[in-house]
Amino acid sequence: MTFFRSARLTIFAFAALGLAACAPEPQGTRTEIAQRIAPVGGVDSSAVEMVAAAPAAPAAPRSGEAVYSTYCVACHMSGAAGAPKYGDAVAWAPRIAKGKDALYESTYNGLNGVMPARGTCMDCSDEELQATVDYMVAAAE
Ligand code: HEC
Repeated sequence: MTFFRSARLTIFAFAALGLAACAPEPQGTRTEIAQRIAPVGGVDSSAVEMVAAAPAAPAAPRSGEAVYSTYCVACHMSGAAGAPKYGDAVAWAPRIAKGKDALYESTYNGLNGVMPARGTCMDCSDEELQATVDYMVAAAE
């Protein structure tokens, strides 16, 4: 009797050990486990935030030539209202003598009520207007 009882206990003990050995014991820390079971191709939220925070892609600055031919040509080609003509060194000489900064300023603000502020390119950046003045000055030097 005792023999059978202890034998049963022994078998039971082995069976319990066997079960314990079979039960998959997760390896690694919680973080490692979480990383392993994370969905494949999951969206990296930091990338989404970066896209959302990015300002509307700024258009590449227009060249001086592009701005001139769109906005300034109307007056500076013909000399309308006394505008110094494009490429006219004589008309431009006294203006160039004032220095680039003075020319930039009169382009931003307009001049004498005849040269309109920003040469009518209201969405031109200061840099684009400077490039345009540089382009016009280079043609008249
Ligand atoms: C509506 C006509 C008109 C347009 C459009 C125009 N201009 Fe002018 N601009 C003038 C006139 C007129 C003058 C001469 C003003 C004066 O000296 O009284 C002038 C003068 C200038 C001068 C000389 C300023 C100075 O201080 O002597 C610059 C530089 C200039 N324009 C740049 C531009 C640029 C750059 C554009 C385009 C982005 C432009 N203009 C568009 C009419 C125009």
